[in-house]
Amino acid sequence: MKIALFFSLLFPGVFLAQNTEWFSQAKLGIFIHWGMYAVDGTSESWAFHNKTVPYDEYMAQMTSFDASNYDPKLWAGIIKESGAKYCVITTKHHDGLALYNTKIKTAAPLKNKNWQSNKPLSVTFQTPARRDLIAPLFEELEKVGIKKGAYYSLLDWSSDDYPGFLKDSSRYLIDNDTIRWQHFLEFMHGQITELATNYNPDLYWFDGDWEHTEEQWQSIVIDSIIHANNPNAILNGRLKSFGDYDTPEQNMPIVHPERKLWELCLTTNDNWGYRPTDNHYKSHFELLSIFSECLGMGGNLLLDIGPKADGTIPEEQLAILNEFGRWTSKHAEAIYQTTAGLPPGHYHGNSTLSKDSSTLFLFVASPKGKLEPGGKLTLPIYLKGISSQPKQIDLIGSIEPIQFTEVGKISWSTVPGTLFIEIPINEMDPQISVIKVQFDQPIQLYRGRGGFH
Ligand code: GLC
Repeated sequence: MKIALFFSLLFPGVFLAQNTEWFSQAKLGIFIHWGMYAVDGTSESWAFHNKTVPYDEYMAQMTSFDASNYDPKLWAGIIKESGAKYCVITTKHHDGLALYNTKIKTAAPLKNKNWQSNKPLSVTFQTPARRDLIAPLFEELEKVGIKKGAYYSLLDWSSDDYPGFLKDSSRYLIDNDTIRWQHFLEFMHGQITELATNYNPDLYWFDGDWEHTEEQWQSIVIDSIIHANNPNAILNGRLKSFGDYDTPEQNMPIVHPERKLWELCLTTNDNWGYRPTDNHYKSHFELLSIFSECLGMGGNLLLDIGPKADGTIPEEQLAILNEFGRWTSKHAEAIYQTTAGLPPGHYHGNSTLSKDSSTLFLFVASPKGKLEPGGKLTLPIYLKGISSQPKQIDLIGSIEPIQFTEVGKISWSTVPGTLFIEIPINEMDPQISVIKVQFDQPIQLYRGRGGFH
């Protein structure tokens, strides 16, 4: 391992990730924010940083973090059922508490009375959970074929060797004490080496890079440690210029993110971790709509859950995962093994294309409300600029024939007409329906200015 690291530093790029294919096809991942903050239901790490809660009071939550009902096998099963293909869990958040078995001690602040500073700051030594919480989950995820992702906060507000602490104070400036910063780097790089060698994640999800520059973090060393251990490991793009994919957070990008690969991370309510006071859950329809948007732009959704301190997943979040499971298994062909859909202008909505682009999937929001028994209502949608002739159109999950007509086609012109499709409302999915449009050949698009050519 050491030799590989040496060479990778000499020749960066030799150990570049080679396999991002699984990630581009994964489409759905589950993010897990779990930590001491679930005990009081405060915000993860930010509670003390932003001085909502005093640091000592925040860290005292460790004494009750017991993970007494933690069932990693159950978690892995629930994640699998949701249709997700990967899972990213907080191995260490900004508060510095590791959920895995780190052997490296955090430099404790002098007046520290929050943890036993002669032991590492991990759930094993500092909480009644008394065990590694990451290894058993990774094992179970592997058994069910879910890729393992490790969230790791570069910044560590609990370490006395780290400059940042509270929002309006800092321990020191790097330029004034490069040796202290060097100590922090050794600690942080050491922890990443532990994760790489003992846990071998398929994906690393770094966070907190905004506090320092790429040179200060020594992102190149981090990248090398990881790829020397596993050349195929994928890194998110929060190591400044390093990493394989962009990570817009909470809100959908309007234009395509800079990197080709990207993933939207999203909370189900307004918080990453467990907060019983936050009932502002997004509806199943809203979440699936956002997911369809990601699919249409060729990205992934990393949907977050925040388990309670004992390891149970809140009911509302279970219901969401369950609904994702129903929807993803029904519409699997429109989700996995697809690429981004039609460019703007052809369809007012989200769409995906099969890899050979001979099948187009149109996502249609279902109308709300109930239809009277015996009634028949249809929802018209339309497509423009499709030069290829559809050979068949279906509503996924229904056997009812779908009517469609092409309007405005001029026989002698190459410009296609507008394709109107009638969707029987009573056959639609309760949330988002998918219309499958099949062609004999890869789809041909007309991208002109209208008129006759
Ligand atoms: C932000 C927050 C952090 C959260 C992360 C998830 O960077 O600092 O609390 O874990 O977003 O994307």
